[in-house]
Amino acid sequence: MKIAHLTDLHIDSPEAITPGLLFTGPMPNRRLLGAANFLLNRRSVHQVPVLQAAVRAVGETGADFCVITGDVSNLAIDAEFKFVRGILDGIGGPDKLSLVPGNHDWYTPAAVKAGLFEKYFGDLIWRPGEVNGQWPVYRDFDGVRLILARTAWTPPPGMAWGKMGPQQLQTIFRLSEEAADAGKFVILAQHHHMHRRAKLLHRTTGWYIDQKRELEMISRSRIGLVIHGHDHDHFDHVVPSRHASGGTRIICGGSATYMDQHHGRFGRMGVYEVRDGVLVVEKWMYSPDRERFVQSLEG
Ligand SMILES: [Fe+2]
Ligand SMILES: [Fe+2]
Repeated sequence: MKIAHLTDLHIDSPEAITPGLLFTGPMPNRRLLGAANFLLNRRSVHQVPVLQAAVRAVGETGADFCVITGDVSNLAIDAEFKFVRGILDGIGGPDKLSLVPGNHDWYTPAAVKAGLFEKYFGDLIWRPGEVNGQWPVYRDFDGVRLILARTAWTPPPGMAWGKMGPQQLQTIFRLSEEAADAGKFVILAQHHHMHRRAKLLHRTTGWYIDQKRELEMISRSRIGLVIHGHDHDHFDHVVPSRHASGGTRIICGGSATYMDQHHGRFGRMGVYEVRDGVLVVEKWMYSPDRERFVQSLEG
């Protein structure tokens, strides 16, 4: 069983940013700041051709399933969601792809209230008979249970804080114990980070409120792997837990769409294979020369 992991796409749409969008609505300033930030900093580094290459690469890896851990958009508007969904359809439908929202997909209270992210991606998340909007959700595969949780939230303006809440933590623990008892390898996917971020600014504005509580839950659990995004840099570490290997591996994928020649940062993708209960990790990176993702030598 092989799962591909993409995160932090931050794709905009050509027609997404309009004056009407920025200066109307209940909280225009948040989007105004976000649009300014995006136009100044992000437009040049997150690129559509890199995402298109990632979509092709998911097929090339032979992955059975793909999970995207949020921030597919920038300003959580219809045009962005529609545009990115069109590209992601290249991976496949709900039997091939699922995702969780990031803080950018829940960017304004109005977008959350309108359920925009859920409108465009809900069919990839909730199966027939499941309650739309309810988290966590899970998918069972041969030897693997994938749990998807929501840390996106509506924090104070200007902040990108994440929150899981006690209910989700309890349910994740229960679902993971149930799967481990059945001999399955448990993978948890979420948006917010599980490590200490390098910059004070990022620690402050991008705080994950429930990080300590989640680490405590993980320490009691047999979860084998946690995959996430939010921090756009790749990060890979192991924390103590009851998993048979002696700990739980936690991998921050790193943005899948980077094309930053200046800093030498390019899109990344993780591929996680579970063979007889043992995790094998492949890391793939975008090669600007070959205009495709290639497997990197990192383990
Ligand atoms: Fe992000
Ligand atoms: Fe984020």
